[in-house]
Amino acid sequence: MSLLGRNSFVRSCIPVLIGICMGIALNMMVAPFLDDLCDPIDTKDTENLIKLRETKMVHELDTKNKEQEPGKGEVNDQETESDGNDFYIHEQKYQREEIKDGKKFVRPRFASTELGIREKLFVGVLSTPHTVNSFGMALNKTFAHYVTKTVFFTNGKSGMPPPGMQVISFPDQDNKKLPIHALKYIKEHYASTFDYYLFITDRTYIRGEKLYELVGHISISEEVHMGAILHRGDQGDTCTLDGGIILSQNVLSKVYPKIDSCFLKSEQNPSLAFEACILQTANSKCSEKGGDKNFRSYKVDDFEFDDDITSLRNDAMFNSSFSIYPMPDDISLYKIHRYFCQLEINLTRQEIQKAKDSIIGLSEFAPGGKDSLQWPIGVPEAFKPNTRFDVVQWSYFTDTHIYFDDDFTNIRPLQGADKQDIQEIQQIAFDRLNSIYGDNFKQFKLVNGYRRFEPSRGMEYTLDLELYGKHRHEKTEQKRVHLLRPLGKVEIVPMPYVTENSQIHLILPVYESEMGDFGNFMEGFAKTVLETSDNSYLYVIFVYEKKKGKSGDPFAVPKTVIDYHLNNHPSRKSTVTWKVLETSEKSELDLLDYVVRDLQSGDLVSVCSIGMEMDIDYLNRVRMNTIPNVQVFFPISFWQYKQNMVYQKPPYPPGVELGQRYGHFDVDSYEHSSFYMSDYMNSRKHVSPSDTKKTSLIDLFLKVQSLHVFRAAEPSLRIRWKLLDCPVRDDDKLRCNKRKSESLASRSQLAKAVFDYAEKKHLSVEEVVKSAKQLTNTIG
Ligand SMILES: *[C@@H]1O[C@H](CO)[C@@H](O)[C@H](O)[C@H]1NC(C)=O
Ligand SMILES: *[C@@H]1O[C@H](CO)[C@@H](O)[C@H](O)[C@H]1NC(C)=O
Ligand SMILES: *[C@@H]1O[C@H](CO)[C@@H](O)[C@H](O)[C@H]1NC(C)=O
Repeated sequence: MSLLGRNSFVRSCIPVLIGICMGIALNMMVAPFLDDLCDPIDTKDTENLIKLRETKMVHELDTKNKEQEPGKGEVNDQETESDGNDFYIHEQKYQREEIKDGKKFVRPRFASTELGIREKLFVGVLSTPHTVNSFGMALNKTFAHYVTKTVFFTNGKSGMPPPGMQVISFPDQDNKKLPIHALKYIKEHYASTFDYYLFITDRTYIRGEKLYELVGHISISEEVHMGAILHRGDQGDTCTLDGGIILSQNVLSKVYPKIDSCFLKSEQNPSLAFEACILQTANSKCSEKGGDKNFRSYKVDDFEFDDDITSLRNDAMFNSSFSIYPMPDDISLYKIHRYFCQLEINLTRQEIQKAKDSIIGLSEFAPGGKDSLQWPIGVPEAFKPNTRFDVVQWSYFTDTHIYFDDDFTNIRPLQGADKQDIQEIQQIAFDRLNSIYGDNFKQFKLVNGYRRFEPSRGMEYTLDLELYGKHRHEKTEQKRVHLLRPLGKVEIVPMPYVTENSQIHLILPVYESEMGDFGNFMEGFAKTVLETSDNSYLYVIFVYEKKKGKSGDPFAVPKTVIDYHLNNHPSRKSTVTWKVLETSEKSELDLLDYVVRDLQSGDLVSVCSIGMEMDIDYLNRVRMNTIPNVQVFFPISFWQYKQNMVYQKPPYPPGVELGQRYGHFDVDSYEHSSFYMSDYMNSRKHVSPSDTKKTSLIDLFLKVQSLHVFRAAEPSLRIRWKLLDCPVRDDDKLRCNKRKSESLASRSQLAKAVFDYAEKKHLSVEEVVKSAKQLTNTIG
């Protein structure tokens, strides 16, 4: 692949590379102790871990973290729609009765259902209508993201449930019966969906990740009935819902058949009612132990976080508890959550330090010894290029400009995010140097700066700083430092499954000016679609521009071309349809609005243009990259240069050759796209009629937050050279003119043309450049 192609290609691969490399690396290095630490409350992230090293220094400097500022009341933050009372019933459509009835055996949708694989942990929170918005919400914020499912139960109606929380209310006002109602509800809706069921009240603080870990380490064949002890008895202990009780699925399944008998008994409080019910129906007594694990809980009396924490923090039992109860108010709950998050961070830091020490220790015995260690420890090694094309280039920067940032620019003013980035990096380097050299420096100046982006590591910097001492007589010093801004959290975005045989509706607008190339397009279409069994339909729209004083059908020729091809393939007559649109202005949305009525909302649409080469690979790529409700696809197409500029002499090859000499990937072109009609129609609602003419298709989709707009270099989408017809006044004019100037030939080819021309005409290059505009016109 050409240098050019490679470049765009590499860029388009970056997310994938990052995903793979970081995924593997992070998993191996950090995962054991970085289990989703914290926390919806911590607002500032630690993603700004920037590493700095001064050259020739042996040890690495500490990482800088932004201070955590937890506990800031985010209580009222509301985001998702309420899924209040819609009861999820998990993939349980598979019922044996169906087979008995002689009906067709229906395979469940997921293998996990058929194999009886269950989800891990269900949490039922016993709440009240008055506290579900305070205590309940606090609980939801502190642990719901660790466990598989959380449901809140209340006695009596509780108004609007907070968003994203499932609240089930029972009309029965008797709160002692609430746990029994909850059990019954679980029997009806989640009877065997989960391995473990945890019951708590909304006064319990739960360390979600610890509990999840706990049940993850108990064998699911074990009968588990464990929890926080209320009181011990000779015939077994009794647990309390305030501290939490865990039941395994096999215990619960014994409870279900006789659950109604539990309503008859009357006990003093909900915990006793719950325990009595389990004892009576499943003959199971609670204990602190489950498998070989302990349920670690901690009961506090008259808890006041600020006063009590000083003594509690020295209590090993407290530090290692999974549940703390009872909480006097929701603020205490948040505070305690912050405490445990910090504890967890501190422990994680220690683990990281230990891991680093052990890497350094072990490196002595590895090939290459200690010298083989890469800086910084724990970050993937720098990529070793195999050929000169693989070298990840450094760009040079000063305080105001950046040089050689990409293949096409020599110099560019620093602005926006780049500027911020570079200012921040310098400040960090300066602060760090100051802290190493005892606050010796007053000021700094950037002498040289280099940075590059390594897809597997992050952004690397090398800075030469001139440092001015605090005192007049002190000499200035120059120091070179290296910094790395490692890549942060890597996310894997799950994508729905798509197939390669969906039907595509190719929409092709044909304007009078480009009619000449229509024959070529149809020929390609006939070859790739009509002659094969490809499942694509072509929808041609002849766009008549309203003009006075013309007669005859300007599109008579294209129409006969269509007829010709269809006559050659009589069995596929329905594959091509054409329509006529009369308009005075080109507008993508008008065009699509026009075809909407002929399509259905489930149709996959791909917008084409005259000049593109039909390619079955491209059609398949459209099928794979367009996902209803999730993703629309805007490929970066390969545009051919003008043939007489890049080939020595005719005859020119018939197709578009892929290669740096013959064309370029035009990152500014958006005319090809594919999407599902339903996504178009949903997005269309966001554009008012007055904006229709101004809005392009890509802007339309960018407006909709929930849709991914997928862009990638697409070598199988090749476009023949054409003279772009730029609008005279428009927002797009600038972009279009840039495209036009880049579309002719590469810069070296253009330079050569200038020199040749100068030689032929016996002119100096300056003179030629002066009349460059005129020259372009001659060639173009
Ligand atoms: C409750 O927790 C769920 C899962 O983490 C979250 O999606 C939802 O937004 C939370 N709701 C509130 C009100 O905090
Ligand atoms: C509990 O954790 C705190 C915070 O890290 C720590 O200072 C304290 O020593 C720990 N206490 C015990 C007994 O381990
Ligand atoms: C965590 O460490 C920081 C700094 O070393 C310390 O101030 C803080 O008290 C620690 N927090 C806990 C909960 O251990």
